[in-house]
Amino acid sequence: MLTLLLSFTGYLLPWDQLSIWAVTVGSNMARATPFLGHEGPGHELMGVNPIYDARAFLFGGGEIGPHTLLRFYILHCIFFPLITSLLLAVHFWRIRRDGFSGPPL
Ligand code: HEM
Repeated sequence: MLTLLLSFTGYLLPWDQLSIWAVTVGSNMARATPFLGHEGPGHELMGVNPIYDARAFLFGGGEIGPHTLLRFYILHCIFFPLITSLLLAVHFWRIRRDGFSGPPL
């Protein structure tokens, strides 16, 4: 999941036509998130709309723009690497503690 999220957020960073439109298309899925997307099932219960839903939260606004670039940059370079490093540390710690499950080399 984290590798996918890093790939997705990193793809916007070149900030060219290809990356802007790819992230626009990819993020459209968030519009259909149950309850939290303005086109998703149950959206009327939550009162979400196109400028206040899961996609807008991802974009930092109703449309993709410089604010989205800043948000993706921070997610890509700080937030997701920190979470990934934390999980890698736990992973290696468990390997050291429990041993390797494969046959002895
Ligand atoms: C598993 C880890 C990572 C993955 C899968 C990943 C993935 C990507 C992808 C797919 C791009 C777009 C490249 C392109 O289309 O030209 C990108 C760009 C970028 N990434 Fe990452 N990334 C990772 C880790 C990091 C980290 C740790 C940093 C910095 C702390 C970083 C900084 C950047 C920057 C600055 C760009 C923009 C490069 C450009 O515009 O040419 N990435 N990344």
